[in-house]
Amino acid sequence: MSRTTTDALYLVTIVTFILALRFLSSPKHARKGNWIGAAGMALAIVVTLFQDSVGNYALIGIGMVVGGAVGLVGARMVKMTAMPQMVALFNGVGGGAAALISLDEFHRFAGDFSTVEATSVALSALIGAISFSGSLIAYAKLQELISGRPIVFRGQQVVNALIIGTAAALGVWIATGGDQQGLIYGLLAAALVFGVMFVLPIGGADMPVVISLLNAFTGLAAAATGFVLTNNVLIVAGALVGASGTLLTILMGKAMNRSITNVLFGAFGQVQTGAGADRVDDGRTVRATSPEDVAVMLSFARKVIIVPGYGLAVAQAQHDVRQLGELLEDKGVDVVYAIHPVAGRMPGHMNVLLAEANVPYDVLKEMDEVNPEFPQADVALVIGANDVTNPAARTDTSSPIYGMPILDVDKAAAVVVMKRSMAPGFAGIDNELYLDPRTTMLFGDAKDSIVKLISAVKAS
Ligand code: TAP
Repeated sequence: MSRTTTDALYLVTIVTFILALRFLSSPKHARKGNWIGAAGMALAIVVTLFQDSVGNYALIGIGMVVGGAVGLVGARMVKMTAMPQMVALFNGVGGGAAALISLDEFHRFAGDFSTVEATSVALSALIGAISFSGSLIAYAKLQELISGRPIVFRGQQVVNALIIGTAAALGVWIATGGDQQGLIYGLLAAALVFGVMFVLPIGGADMPVVISLLNAFTGLAAAATGFVLTNNVLIVAGALVGASGTLLTILMGKAMNRSITNVLFGAFGQVQTGAGADRVDDGRTVRATSPEDVAVMLSFARKVIIVPGYGLAVAQAQHDVRQLGELLEDKGVDVVYAIHPVAGRMPGHMNVLLAEANVPYDVLKEMDEVNPEFPQADVALVIGANDVTNPAARTDTSSPIYGMPILDVDKAAAVVVMKRSMAPGFAGIDNELYLDPRTTMLFGDAKDSIVKLISAVKAS
């Protein structure tokens, strides 16, 4: 295939990637965005296969069939709640591929590189290997193969600085013309160890932010690989992944009111000894309720705001909640869903979950849009959400979530919280909302409780 045709087709591919990102920015069009991106990627693969430099089609074919099958089966079988670890694994594979390409290129051409090529090889090996091993640790934490708690020890920062310093020094050596094979192996080994050490001290629940950051790393490694291979589509696609991963990381940090430094070095999620312990017993008590009482409350309400959280995903109660919402609407109740940007454990978690259950997009309201509606709501029905409703974020300066924007559920006339116990959520802190005189607790698994609620609403 001629260079001009290749470049023209690669340009089409680049346009599809940009369009895909545009469509992915709204849940309404996200599916279309995915298809456009996948079509662009298929075109990029076909065009690449037609390049003269590509040989051994049999080996490539076997790789594509095995890889494609693993991807297809994995994606079909993965549970919605396990999606973050799947993304971590796939992201790690991307980083690993970039590192392997740099290893191969170094073997073949070390000594003949231009400065740009040598620098690109070093960067691609360094960032790709960090992303690979870091993503595997993130996967292992989320899959509970290793403890999700931050693993910290004395002098950790110094050890980490020494490892990354060694990797960087080897990288500079390669970039300035070093061609001994030991250099690339040393660089890869140091980068792999650093990836592990970098993620170990970060708490399991912060992994989505870390994965997003590692995703940005993989993008940068791919872009560097693009320079090594003189492949424009790889450079642009890598830059797009790098930029969108960075933006997503920043946005997630903002929505959690945490700086990226705090996520990476704050060891969030260690066993807390202080938080909540000094709370004085002011005589307020938690009031438990029954599905029958809640059903009456809901049936006679004019406006109900449903607040889904991580517990809804754990209970897999999305279909039941849609059914409950429809039942209430049939009774003339105005029902909307309040979506907090970091409810759940991954970006867009609640949108995806509710979309899977065919809850119409127009009843899903983002935090800024729905917050002014809480004072008009008769009932805020909180299903498996905790931190994103905690008023301490507004008032308690000592709280780890102080300053995080929350859903104003406590401004509704009545609040019903559905969860299994008084256990805290991700931030590991108590929620004052549960002691509010307007709040009642419907204890139990969210799915069981909603099924009982549906029968009780039908009977009321
Ligand atoms: P959380 O504060 O984590 O609370 C979830 C609650 O669900 C828990 O208190 C738990 O209480 C309850 N629950 C668990 N399983 C349940 C079940 N089967 N049935 C009923 N309830 C169940 O969740 P949230 O309010 O969605 O907040 C998300 C948190 O994760 C925030 O702190 C956020 O910063 C953090 N985070 C989010 C992201 C993204 S991008 N979404 C990324 C990293 C961290 P019980 O055990 O008593 O049932």
